[in-house]
Amino acid sequence: MAHDSTDSGSKVGILRAIVPMAILVLGSTLLSLSYFTAIAADGDSYEGYEFCIVCHSEKVEEWKETPHAKAYSDPIFQEEWEKRGFLIECLECHTTGYDSDTGDFAVEGVQCEYCHGPGMTMDVDDTAELCGQCHTGDFGKNKIENFSLGIHFSSNVECNDCHMYKESHTWEIESKACAECHTDRTIHTRRTILDLQEEALEDKDALEQLTAANLELESALSERSERSGIANMVTLGGAFVIATLAIIVVFSYLRVKNA
Ligand code: HEC
Ligand code: HEC
Ligand code: HEC
Ligand code: HEC
Ligand code: HEC
Ligand code: HEC
Repeated sequence: MAHDSTDSGSKVGILRAIVPMAILVLGSTLLSLSYFTAIAADGDSYEGYEFCIVCHSEKVEEWKETPHAKAYSDPIFQEEWEKRGFLIECLECHTTGYDSDTGDFAVEGVQCEYCHGPGMTMDVDDTAELCGQCHTGDFGKNKIENFSLGIHFSSNVECNDCHMYKESHTWEIESKACAECHTDRTIHTRRTILDLQEEALEDKDALEQLTAANLELESALSERSERSGIANMVTLGGAFVIATLAIIVVFSYLRVKNA
């Protein structure tokens, strides 16, 4: 009996050692498998956002709620697209992996891989030109053409500096984003919002002064032209009187001489 019990005891011991080992081996095999499928996806094939979830779940959660994620499924887009006879050109900015030759696309909406490249490419382009590929022409209410006229563009501030505060993938404006640059701490390189407001107010005063000076000048000019008008008339009238007098004098002289 005692012999049996030690036998089953050692079996349990072996099992206790094997099970965790097996779980460990299985787990790491699965992990490296998923890693290698991920690596295999490197290249030209678009996988869709589900592929990125494993390693970037936070970004996916944020993106899912945005107009970018819904750019194709959006009922307003679908309605307008139908009205335009399902023009394939529309898909260029409302889908990802669009091929202009075939009119096919890989996945719906503005997905991760439009901005970061297909599969494991994982490129980061943080310039305004990335956004400007789509936010342009007839469809951009806040298009790059307008943005490029402003001081932010010429100061190398990019769309993501305001729209992707702390790499947020909601593209919503976070008021803290402005303070990232417009703060006292960076006052030596960039002006504060208060400075800018003050300047705008000073500009308003300057404009009012300029407008007043302009009005004064205009009235002075019109007064002068009025005056020179009167002067012209006086000169003309004088010349007429002198000429008439001269004719009268000449005629009377001739009459006296003839008589
Ligand atoms: C198997 C895990 C894994 C998958 C799947 C994965 N990534 Fe990554 N990604 C990483 C790691 C690791 C880094 C480097 C660490 C970091 O910078 O956060 C990274 C970094 C990045 C970066 C930043 C690169 C840089 O230069 O700073 C981007 C952008 C990115 N991934 C996008 C994607 C997109 C889009 C997908 C889906 C199409 C994806 N990743 C799928 C693991 C993964
Ligand atoms: C060059 C890229 C581009 C092309 C091509 C394009 N769009 Fe868009 N579209 C956009 C952008 C960017 C927005 C968002 C504009 C904004 O909010 O400032 C948008 C927004 C829209 C909206 C408004 C969606 C909403 O929910 O308010 C509709 C509808 C729409 N597009 C339909 C179309 C149709 C139909 C076509 C084809 C005739 C088309 N788009 C082609 C870039 C494009
Ligand atoms: C409209 C373009 C766009 C889309 C769509 C987009 N990203 Fe990004 N992503 C960017 C830009 C731009 C940056 C760089 C932001 C910065 O530096 O401020 C970035 C940064 C990142 C980074 C690096 C952030 C870090 O902390 O270093 C990761 C990872 C990433 N994106 C993953 C994703 C994933 C996953 C998706 C899809 C769910 C996605 N992105 C969709 C434009 C995009
Ligand atoms: C592939 C084309 C594409 C790219 C690239 C792109 N967008 Fe968009 N964006 C769209 C479309 C299309 C919509 C409108 C979707 C809808 O409402 O149906 C949109 C919507 C938006 C909105 C919301 C507009 C609203 O009216 O609510 C913001 C903000 C925005 N984009 C900012 C950006 C920024 C910042 C970048 C660059 C980091 C960028 N986009 C890159 C196509 C694009
Ligand atoms: C200096 C900061 C700043 C920069 C840089 C910037 N934006 Fe904006 N953008 C804003 C603010 C502020 C709003 C108004 C947000 C609101 O009403 O919620 C806005 C609004 C928008 C909207 C409309 C969003 C909506 O909800 O209707 C789009 C689309 C947009 N911007 C795209 C862009 C693109 C594309 C770029 C780069 C070419 C860009 N923005 C650069 C600050 C910025
Ligand atoms: C990445 C840095 C950065 C961010 C973020 C930023 N700005 Fe600016 N801003 C600048 C620079 C640089 C200038 C131009 C040089 C200067 O005035 O010092 C400027 C100029 C301005 C001006 C003056 C415009 C003019 O025509 O004179 C205003 C107003 C302004 N920013 C408001 C904002 C607001 C509002 C936000 C947030 C939505 C914002 N900025 C976000 C860097 C930034």
